[in-house]
Amino acid sequence: MFTTTIDEVAPDIFRLSTYIPDVGPSGLAFNQFLIRDAEPMLFHTGMRQLFPLVADAVASLIALSDLRWISFSHVEADECGSMNQFLAASPRAQVVHGGLACMVSLNDLADRPPHVIGEDALDIGSKRMRFLPTPHVPHNWESGLWIEETTSTLFAGDLFTAGGDLPAVTDDDIVEAALIAEDVFHSTSMGPDLLPTLERLASLEPTTMALMHGSSFHGDGAGQLRELAAAYAARSGGLALH
Ligand SMILES: [Fe+2]
Ligand SMILES: [Fe+2]
Repeated sequence: MFTTTIDEVAPDIFRLSTYIPDVGPSGLAFNQFLIRDAEPMLFHTGMRQLFPLVADAVASLIALSDLRWISFSHVEADECGSMNQFLAASPRAQVVHGGLACMVSLNDLADRPPHVIGEDALDIGSKRMRFLPTPHVPHNWESGLWIEETTSTLFAGDLFTAGGDLPAVTDDDIVEAALIAEDVFHSTSMGPDLLPTLERLASLEPTTMALMHGSSFHGDGAGQLRELAAAYAARSGGLALH
């Protein structure tokens, strides 16, 4: 049926991609990311029905029982649908998210208590993960992203969502495809948090951006984030760039 492909998009950061052709007009890839380290982290689990495929992909990179951290940008099926299946398969694993997501949803939904991450970086071995609360951006109150600081890799979640079966990695513009997909899905909350949050992410100057739906981007991440913000500002009418 579906297949899951694995690509290393930054050192020891792997994209586990499952393309599903009947989502939207051109299909949609669902990308999970495994950060391989002493305490491996899975960013996004995928939907419950994808668990066998995603778990197999994870198990080809690490022992599934070694998985330590499970995180995701927000509470939706594609981001965290198989969270509890991974918790069952990986006895050491724990969900980690911001205090808001834990309070609103994860203390109840996760089969083991989640770990609340604050402002301190999460040291997972040789890599350093920092949680970035991004409420309402691109959608959902509890949203948050991560940046891996030693490789400047931003786990961008649903930002820059693009349709189609795209290459694993690109250094071309990703804004235009994101605006086309936005016209299809209307998934971005055009609220007051949007532009300041994009600017805050740009100020981190990521050199890799790992997208949940689309190619991973290599290059000037800040430039792409600012272009996306400018495009949203131009189309929204009411939003102002700072
Ligand atoms: Fe989402
Ligand atoms: Fe998503």
